[in-house]
Amino acid sequence: MLKRKDMLGLIDTSAEEIDEILTLAAAMKAKLRAGEKKFDDLAGKTCTVLFYENSTRTRTSFEQAAKYLGATTVNIAAATSSVAKGETLVDTGKTLDAQRNDFIVMRHPMGGAPYLLAKTVKASVLNAGDGMNEHPSQALLDMLTMREEFGTLRGLKVAILGDIKHSRVAKSNLFGLKKMGAEVTMFAPETLIPKDVDKLGAKLCVSREEALDGADVVMGLRIQLERQQAGNFPSLGEYAAFYGVDEKTLGYAKPNAIVLHPGPVNRGVELTSGVIDHERSRIEEQVLSGVAVRMALMKLLNEYRERNC
Ligand code: NCD
Repeated sequence: MLKRKDMLGLIDTSAEEIDEILTLAAAMKAKLRAGEKKFDDLAGKTCTVLFYENSTRTRTSFEQAAKYLGATTVNIAAATSSVAKGETLVDTGKTLDAQRNDFIVMRHPMGGAPYLLAKTVKASVLNAGDGMNEHPSQALLDMLTMREEFGTLRGLKVAILGDIKHSRVAKSNLFGLKKMGAEVTMFAPETLIPKDVDKLGAKLCVSREEALDGADVVMGLRIQLERQQAGNFPSLGEYAAFYGVDEKTLGYAKPNAIVLHPGPVNRGVELTSGVIDHERSRIEEQVLSGVAVRMALMKLLNEYRERNC
């Protein structure tokens, strides 16, 4: 049983909790696959989706998950809300609480923002990405996709390549995968590797060949131009040539390795189109995993709320 009001990061989520979320998400996914979309676990509940950053799949996926579970959903884009008039995050949170919201799904450019919100509201807060910190539901959907493919996460070798420094997806995956017994290797230009990430358990590699050698999972990450100054690497073309994954470099991984990417993909930069559309690519599968994981998270948090809040 999840014993928490909020889901903010995998750094403090246990292996048992991750296992519980993934097991329920797998069952939810099987139902979605069978065409079932109408559940009543969150009937009578409200969920506000509050995004201070752009998004396509994460925002729609949370909204669909809440709707499929029977909740009423409200969508706030920060650019069109009172935030644009200077309202603080805490005041926005108080307003949403006064409206008796049960869930607030938030994406924010500042690392730690959802932690602040969670402390000040009665609603359950789900972190949909906070700056360069964490993106727990993305890592959970990645882990669900891997677990469905290979049956277990224990012993899997996961190679993460791309803009690791600016990626909350890489950090949440590292925390989660290590707890579940997987090995994580990373490769990127030195300027795109966060300081001390090896101390968190990642194995840093000096080449694509080394990172992909024997990998079960090859995860590409987007070069996040919006979060970096120019100068981390000479040009996108050179990045693609020396650090990107094409069909030849994919050959260093195991023959049954799968390709993942959280999206949006810069086609031809971190992955070539041949790799994105490869028969080993599970990028579209990740999207369905995303709806299922978010349904599982909200259902489990709601069960906690019903018992304790
Ligand atoms: C990721 C994010 O926003 O952190 N995307 C996502 O949630 N699907 C990765 C990215 O933006 O590159």
